[in-house]
Amino acid sequence: MKKKALQFLAGCLLFFGTSCYYDTAIEEEIDIPPPDQGISFEESILPILNSYTCTQCHNGDRAPDLRPENAYDALVPDFVVAGDADESVFFQRLPGKDHPSVGFSMTNSEIDLIEEGINRGAEE
Ligand code: HEC
Repeated sequence: MKKKALQFLAGCLLFFGTSCYYDTAIEEEIDIPPPDQGISFEESILPILNSYTCTQCHNGDRAPDLRPENAYDALVPDFVVAGDADESVFFQRLPGKDHPSVGFSMTNSEIDLIEEGINRGAEE
């Protein structure tokens, strides 16, 4: 009986252990284009923003206006210093960085792509 209990416990540990493992593995990796290629805001970064509910709050009343048709002009140059992510409020204050808690965080690879896009000149 005791042995069964131990086996059960070991099974549980294994189950939860692997489910944790899969949770972290699920975070989708985004390939950063090779350095000689630009990163287009409309093609690469806007779809990431659109996959979240940013416009629930940033819809014209609260800056930056992140509605798809306005986002680029609202961000550059007021919130994005082209070529310098570290000086860009947009990059510094993404959910997952220094942003009030909104129930989600952008993933590291999304944040990395945005950083790289700004550092490569914040193309539209
Ligand atoms: C539930 C509401 C809410 C959602 C959703 C939300 N934000 Fe915000 N955001 C805020 C608030 C409130 C502030 C202002 C916080 C402050 O000034 O301290 C803010 C501030 C910011 C700032 C800094 C603006 C500044 O003037 O310094 C950026 C950049 C930003 N949000 C980006 C985003 C992005 C990108 C998303 C979606 C991925 C998002 N936010 C989703 C509420 C939200």
